[in-house]
Amino acid sequence: MLPRDMFPPNRPHLTMTDPEPAADPAADAAPGAAARPPRPIRSYVLRTGRMGSGQRRALTDLAPRFVLPYQPAVLGTAAAFGRAAPVVLEIGFGMGDATAQIATALPGTDFIGVEVHEPGVGALLQRIDEGALANLRIVQHDAVEVLENMVAPDTLAGVHVFFPDPWHKTKHNKRRLIQPEFVRLLASRLAPGAYLHCATDWQPYAEQMLAVLSAEPTLHNTAQAYAPKPDYRPLTKFEDRGLKLGHGVWDVVFVKRGSIG
Ligand SMILES: C[S@@+](CC[C@H](N)C(=O)[O-])C[C@H]1O[C@@H](n2cnc3c(N)ncnc32)[C@H](O)[C@@H]1O
Repeated sequence: MLPRDMFPPNRPHLTMTDPEPAADPAADAAPGAAARPPRPIRSYVLRTGRMGSGQRRALTDLAPRFVLPYQPAVLGTAAAFGRAAPVVLEIGFGMGDATAQIATALPGTDFIGVEVHEPGVGALLQRIDEGALANLRIVQHDAVEVLENMVAPDTLAGVHVFFPDPWHKTKHNKRRLIQPEFVRLLASRLAPGAYLHCATDWQPYAEQMLAVLSAEPTLHNTAQAYAPKPDYRPLTKFEDRGLKLGHGVWDVVFVKRGSIG
């Protein structure tokens, strides 16, 4: 079941315009007919992946300390981390290997990883424990709603979107996260001068990322087109899999216009 199906159909939400011809005849309703509410992005399917015993134990023992419950209200990050530091949000960390490596390498920055896949949350909790990582917290929820409701405008120091689901088939492209309305939301949550870093191993999605981010007027590209891989981004699990399949990798790094402070 798609988790979005659990949501009330008319709740206010970030929406997208379906770019493909709709199969639903109501979409071709006569002029003057009531418009259908636009649909949210269904960017994920909850997989029923097996949970290891260590992941399960981590969820029980560590979630109360490191998982921030989803709430429809702005999160106080200083209270959540016990200090005031730049906050970087990562969307869809998967099993969290890269997330933990980055948080280890950058102890002066606080990281919030957002993921819906529960075994991945358990796996990252294990990494937090092993590395005694004080600068990493998790929200297990749809990133769109987290950004809409828990993150105040103009606050994030950065956003990482590493190897988001590529939704290869044309009829599924509308499920990709990186599309204009979501990027507008992302950009609104960045502080002036903060960055948005996306990476993918699927060239058509890389082209979409570049086009969509270039069209967002509050962002500007740090490179002529694709960026060199920034040093802080380690190899991710999905990237490794893509490389073994012979895929290329594209990084796209934009910053929000305006100066810091
Ligand atoms: C292809 S995986 C990449 C994982 C990781 N970044 C890597 O490179 O190994 C994409 C991940 O994004 C998560 N995801 C997709 N849409 C999401 C959303 N709206 N909110 C939170 N997580 C999402 C999926 O559950 C999945 O684990």
